[in-house]
Amino acid sequence: MGREDMLKNVPIFSVLGRRDLERLSKLMVPRSLKAGETIIKEGDQAAGFFIINSGKVEVLRGANSSSPQLLNTLGPSDFFGEMALFEGFPRMATVRAVEDSECLAMTRWDFMAEMKNHPEIAVSMLPVLVRRLRTAESHVTE
Ligand code: CMP
Repeated sequence: MGREDMLKNVPIFSVLGRRDLERLSKLMVPRSLKAGETIIKEGDQAAGFFIINSGKVEVLRGANSSSPQLLNTLGPSDFFGEMALFEGFPRMATVRAVEDSECLAMTRWDFMAEMKNHPEIAVSMLPVLVRRLRTAESHVTE
C-alpha cells in the first residue's frame, strides 16, 4: 500500500482531502522498528509524532523498573507520541515494538502546524486522548 493510501485509512486523518494527504505523505518519514526496539522513552523530551503502518507496539510505564505497567497495545492506523507534543512535557510512557513494525514519523513542528491548519484532526484525537488519560490515571491510583 502506498503511503498516501495508508494515511487515508488512519481515522484521525479521515477529514483530509486528497491534496492534504499527499502533502502529509511527503512530510512523514518512514521508521522501521525491530521487535523489542524502543521508539519513545518515558521522561525524554519529545521530538515527534508517529502513526503505525504495520506491526504492534506496547506502551509501558516504568519500563525499566521491577514492575512495569502495560498501559496499552497499539497496531495499524493507531497513533502515539501526541501527549508530550500537545503539552510540551516529557514523554509519559515508553513505547516499544512487540513485533517488527513500520511507522511514519512527523516532527513536532509539522505536527503542530497540521493541528493549526486542520483543527478537526485535534478534535478527532480527543476521545482517544481522554481514554488514554483514564487508563494512565487508573494505573497511578491502583
Ligand atoms: P507521549 O507521552 O508523547 O509518549 C508516550 C505515548 O504513549 C503517549 O504520548 C501516547 O501517545 C502513548 N499512549 C498510548 N496509550 C497510552 C496510555 N494509556 N497512557 C499513556 N500514554 C499512552
